[in-house]
Amino acid sequence: MIIIAGSASKNLARRIGEQLNAKVIEAEYKLFPDGESYYRIPEAVEGEDVVIVQSSAPPQDKNLLELMFLLDTVKDFGARKITLVVPYLAYARQDERYREGEVLSSKVIAKLINSIGADKLITVDVHNEAVLSFFNFEAINLTASVPFADYAEKMGLDKPFVLCPDQERPEMLEAIAKRLNTEYDWLEKFRDRITGEVKTKEKALPVKDRDVLIVDDIISTGWTVVNAINILKKQGARDIYVMATHLVYAEGARERILNAGAKEIIGTDSIEREDSKVTLAKIIAENL
Ligand code: R5P
Repeated sequence: MIIIAGSASKNLARRIGEQLNAKVIEAEYKLFPDGESYYRIPEAVEGEDVVIVQSSAPPQDKNLLELMFLLDTVKDFGARKITLVVPYLAYARQDERYREGEVLSSKVIAKLINSIGADKLITVDVHNEAVLSFFNFEAINLTASVPFADYAEKMGLDKPFVLCPDQERPEMLEAIAKRLNTEYDWLEKFRDRITGEVKTKEKALPVKDRDVLIVDDIISTGWTVVNAINILKKQGARDIYVMATHLVYAEGARERILNAGAKEIIGTDSIEREDSKVTLAKIIAENL
């Protein structure tokens, strides 16, 4: 097996390689003066099982195009089986047409990848699993619940309470709360489809003088988490921690969350950030 590290996922690719004792290579890259990208895969892949690790982190479009360039190249050079590891699958939140005339971006991305062809795609905590049906080959969704629960167990939280800032991640919430042997709940969130503004309905939570762990799949602008922090502080929570699989961090989200009062943000290496404290390498390696 040969693992090709895309430019967005060098550390994760190396860690997956260590798990499997497999060779990891990096594509050669340069930027032409006109802004176009050049790539070259410096090793033969003929007859090999190839795994391309490339998250579609920001800049999403560039990283997706790189994924397709690498995929097309290993196909041309005769790879036997090709697996794409795309932990953060960009555009998965555009999972249906919410307004007349909208581009169904998640479907377009899948169609482009289908047109080149691969054998398997692995993603993690995808926003809506339904988008995986757009692929015409095996596409599976893993969850960071176990590595997050492992981390949470060692945090030494005082009387912990686990909270999801919206109604969308019940499995992850339950898994982490179960490991901490504690209760959990979630908030109801609404997003204005036009302005993007996030509103969260307040409800009474048993958080007074307790440490709270907020759990979500994506931190994009951070407003979902900030609204939850504000509600928690109002209700007397002690230390507030935030755990999210994909640290997209749009528009200064990290600072916004820390300024709102979070003590720590814990993310994965789905997107490489300074808060990527949990690796997905083991769960991905187990599924290769
Ligand atoms: C979507 O509903 C997800 O579960 C996240 O809560 C959301 O993507 C976070 O977005 P933002 O950080 O922009 O509020």
